[in-house]
Amino acid sequence: MPSAGPEVNPDVPQGARIWNYWLGGEDNFAGDRRVSDEILEVVPDMALLAQATRAFLNRVVHHLAADLGVRQFLDIGSGLPTSDNTHQIAQRADPKARVVYVDNDPHVLAKARPLVTGTEEGESAYLSADLRDPDNIIAAAHDTLDFTEPVALLLMGVLGHIADDNEARALLRRLLAALPSGSYLALYDATNVVDPASVEAIEIWNRKANPRYVLRSPTRLSAFFDGLDLVPPGLVSCPRWHPAPGADPAEIDQFCGLARKP
Ligand SMILES: C[S@@+](CC[C@H](N)C(=O)[O-])C[C@H]1O[C@@H](n2cnc3c(N)ncnc32)[C@H](O)[C@@H]1O
Repeated sequence: MPSAGPEVNPDVPQGARIWNYWLGGEDNFAGDRRVSDEILEVVPDMALLAQATRAFLNRVVHHLAADLGVRQFLDIGSGLPTSDNTHQIAQRADPKARVVYVDNDPHVLAKARPLVTGTEEGESAYLSADLRDPDNIIAAAHDTLDFTEPVALLLMGVLGHIADDNEARALLRRLLAALPSGSYLALYDATNVVDPASVEAIEIWNRKANPRYVLRSPTRLSAFFDGLDLVPPGLVSCPRWHPAPGADPAEIDQFCGLARKP
């Protein structure tokens, strides 16, 4: 049972804690688990879907650090620490990797210590900040990241919390404008094209948990990559983004992509 910090309200189910429950973590409260279980009745594979998105995060961060030579990561909407976090994945490939984590949930702030413990050569930092305030994020991230070198911007499961497409695109434009050519955007978000039950599941989430989340079609998600060069295989269902050789995984309602800033 986690201890509640001063701003953490255990009575209002929160997205970060629900996600943590589906990923097998223990940083969640009874109310979070009740909503999670209600959603599992509608989408029994929901925990597997969450784990598939995390597996994408693992593969894409490894690819960026090991194959594309990216050493800096800005992970906004990072969530609660889990068994393998962005800096650990990146620093396994390159011990010098530097990561800035950002989340606006006070429970993530209270539990952030494992996110800032990494290699001696690398560095990781945690910012309690809101995606809706990109200027604040960029200004604070300068303490850890060198914005003259490529940065991978990770928006993993967080743009769905920005319901308005124009607002989401404007935030993206502002963040990407601060990054040099050769930087990357990696994102995944929940969609509404594979399983009709996804819509019912998100209705439960939005009635009972915070913050609200909007499902987007892959077509709507693809607009977030405008002006960037999508890396093959493009925008695909998470398990289909560079699956293990010989595997042919089924589509799920979580789509992802990686793109390079020209
Ligand atoms: C679905 S979870 C994903 C967590 C993690 N990125 C992962 O892929 O496992 C979404 C996260 O975004 C955070 N979040 C939601 N709205 C946010 C905002 N406006 N600014 C920063 N973080 C936000 C939530 O607190 C939560 O931790």
